[in-house]
Amino acid sequence: MRKIIIDCDPGIDDSLALMLALSSPELDIMGITTVSGNVPADMGARNARKVLKHMGRMDIPVYIGEQVPLKCPYIDAMDTHGQDGMGESFLPEVPGDFPKKSAVEFLEETLEKEKISIIALGPMTNLAKIFSMRPKLIEQVEELVSMGGNFRSHGNCSPVAEYNYWCDPDAAAICYDLFGKAGKKIEMVGLDVTRKIVLTPNILEYVCRLDPENGGFIRRITGFYMDFHWEYEKIIGCVINDPLAVAYYIDRSLCGGFDSYTAVATDGICRGQTVVDSMDFWKKEPNSHVLTETDTERFMRFFFSRVLKKKDGSEWEAEELTLLSCL
Ligand code: RIB
Ligand code: CA
Repeated sequence: MRKIIIDCDPGIDDSLALMLALSSPELDIMGITTVSGNVPADMGARNARKVLKHMGRMDIPVYIGEQVPLKCPYIDAMDTHGQDGMGESFLPEVPGDFPKKSAVEFLEETLEKEKISIIALGPMTNLAKIFSMRPKLIEQVEELVSMGGNFRSHGNCSPVAEYNYWCDPDAAAICYDLFGKAGKKIEMVGLDVTRKIVLTPNILEYVCRLDPENGGFIRRITGFYMDFHWEYEKIIGCVINDPLAVAYYIDRSLCGGFDSYTAVATDGICRGQTVVDSMDFWKKEPNSHVLTETDTERFMRFFFSRVLKKKDGSEWEAEELTLLSCL
């Protein structure tokens, strides 16, 4: 069991990532922390609870994180994720108060006690806060896998920037700088690989027939997202970024990439751009492992063989999901 904290902004694809993490026996999820990104941190926490309830894992604590970016005005992505952050599925709220302890306090307390990994699926505001205050705690981070950034792929919220790093560019810049200074590399699961992970209507139809309950939940929260993708990118389907970060944390062979020094632009027209020094102009030690390759079909088999259940509650084997090779 690998101890992790998932820092996220659920968010439709964050919710799918949580479903995968909760279906993965290798992971000991110490807690979920939310941050303002797709939706405000408190709405993200309520949405994380909706996923936990669906998955029968209300035992996992959810801590509410930073409400606004370090410096930039907060701009959400509700146009993409809906007014409820869950594709306007308006799933029933899960009653119960959240811990008074903040996400940053939970991160600090956990890292003081033990070494863990962090899977970051939203803006890195919480992480920049804790590591700016306590940079030595970076030594307690076994792996930081961040869905964010882009190398050669164009941006998704500006010509050059990916949303998580655009929403709070100062936080991303601080994390890449501090991890580099600590001699560590952030695993950058950027748009170069996540754009290859497209949930199509055919795949959705197939998985709903295999597992109406979990397939139906996925359908409820992705319909709005599919409409958004058609309207703005003329894609039939939706790019599900975040689950790839979880899958890659579990099985590194799912993606390929290279080590590089990366800096994040914090203002101006390139705000949020990850400047990947792939040709080593600056002669700086690598602070990132930049992913550029993935196998879409292998990911889909990995994801659905864990998230989908048979009528008897057992999992589907990746090899049984035969139609995924042609959908
Ligand atoms: O740019 C995509 C990322 O921004 C995903 O994590 C999505 O959930 C949003 O947070
Ligand atoms: Ca996210």
